[in-house]
Amino acid sequence: MPEYQSLYRKYRSQTFADLVGQDASSRALQGAIISGRVAHAYLFSGSRGTGKTSAARLLAKSLNCTGRPRSSAEPCNRCESCLDVMSGSALDLIEIDAASNRGIDDVRDLREKVNLAPARGPYKVYIIDEAHGLTGDAFNALLKTLEEPPPHAVFVLCTTDAQKMPLTVIGRCQHFVFRRHSEEMIIGRLTHIAKAEKVAVDPEAMQLIARTAQGSMRDAVGLLDQLVPLASGPISLEGARSLLGIADPRVLDSLLDHVLGGEAASALDELNRIYAAGGELRQVVRGLMEGCRDRLVAALTKRDQVAARRLSAVLDALLHLDGEVRRHAEPRLLVEATLARLAVEAETTQPTPPAPPAVPTAAPPAVPTAVPTAAPPALRATSAQGGEELRPAVPAPVTGWSEVLEKLNRTVRAAYLDAQPEVDGSMLVLWFRYGFHHKKAQEQSAQLMPHVRAWLGDDVKIDYRLRDTETSKPGPRSASPEDDPFVREIVKRFDGRVTRVKEVSE
Ligand SMILES: Nc1ncnc2c1ncn2[C@@H]1O[C@H](COP(=O)(O)OP(=O)(O)OP(=O)(O)O)[C@@H](O)[C@H]1O
Ligand SMILES: [Mg+2]
Ligand SMILES: [Zn+2]
Repeated sequence: MPEYQSLYRKYRSQTFADLVGQDASSRALQGAIISGRVAHAYLFSGSRGTGKTSAARLLAKSLNCTGRPRSSAEPCNRCESCLDVMSGSALDLIEIDAASNRGIDDVRDLREKVNLAPARGPYKVYIIDEAHGLTGDAFNALLKTLEEPPPHAVFVLCTTDAQKMPLTVIGRCQHFVFRRHSEEMIIGRLTHIAKAEKVAVDPEAMQLIARTAQGSMRDAVGLLDQLVPLASGPISLEGARSLLGIADPRVLDSLLDHVLGGEAASALDELNRIYAAGGELRQVVRGLMEGCRDRLVAALTKRDQVAARRLSAVLDALLHLDGEVRRHAEPRLLVEATLARLAVEAETTQPTPPAPPAVPTAAPPAVPTAVPTAAPPALRATSAQGGEELRPAVPAPVTGWSEVLEKLNRTVRAAYLDAQPEVDGSMLVLWFRYGFHHKKAQEQSAQLMPHVRAWLGDDVKIDYRLRDTETSKPGPRSASPEDDPFVREIVKRFDGRVTRVKEVSE
């Protein structure tokens, strides 16, 4: 039997025509290659698994290809230079992984070697992967080189996190943004691969893979890769689910029912059944998040504020859990503990409200608890009808906001579900209870703005405010622990990573 070559490698784009979904970047690069106006430094940024490294190698291959007609940017894939690039043995293509210490040494090293002429072709191409991982020193070394690059050098910095790159470096690069793939694009590519590999995949299974991949072509191809060698016949939806450890959405729905209904014991039973059936915990958490988000949208559409807040709090806890599950030593216990706690909270917060947030002696909850469904008389007197508001003196509800929400796509909308709008002249104030949402929402502002302008006029400004309540206090819950400057410094110094996070009560 021939050795199984991973689809991921086998189907790396070897021509620009084969690079899916990055038309703008691909066209611009080809134009530069054909006209001979290649920049000395490029920055390829964007979501993971979208073709940045592939495009960087393509650029390198084209530049040194000897069999390429002048009128085309496509590498011939037959000349010695092309073959060397494809086999990973090209001397004039230097790949540096900045995520490792080794990579950082390589960048320091680079300053001396970059001036040496290329071994074979006209260009020497440096691909610096995970470029945001470079240290300050390494960035400085790189910057010096970028300021006076020798004519034969081309740098391609690839990163999933351009925000962590110094502006001085970005300023020296021609910047291309690689887009997440749509489900249609992913399905198109997978169909092409399945056909070439002569494997039958049901359309529903294809859809499931595309959804699970969340815009990353690499993840999609990787998932198909897991399925092909294991499946003995055509890949069905059921087969794909069980092989990928994705639980039936109906089962997840019932798990979510138990959690929201305060039935902790049944929730744990259900979780154990899913686990025993091979359900992957990360997929379970993802599935719960999707279910929760759908219910939240439904609650908002029905203007059911009580349910919406409860769901928003649960969603926030699940988002946090999603981040933790990856690195926790005991992910199963973590998921169990979180779901049990959410269920217990649902049970205890539903009939009797907890104390109002103004009482300082109340212990800070580990996860945001549901907002009280009724407030004590003192607070109720000053709050809006129904006593559902936490803050005293709440202005009349803003009409038009839910219409704005409905115009956003699902991902963008999720960032704003927690927002409580107030309109003050030409100022829209959005109040957030959770740091995570507050940050996400600001990142998505460009998507929101046109709809807000259509609603409140062209001069409108948006003010993003974080509520100063217990649940939004900066602390371990407000952002990922890795974002903490102190943690970042430690991780950097020891070249380590965060493997486990333990919450310490105040
Ligand atoms: N645009 C694309 N078209 C076709 N296949 C792609 C594309 N992007 C990614 N792939 C598939 O995913 C694999 C990995 O892609 P690549 O390494 O180029 O992604 P990347 O953007 O550099 O990812 P990362 O951010 O994780 O470094 C490729 O070998 C290929 O199978
Ligand atoms: Mg890459
Ligand atoms: Zn060639």
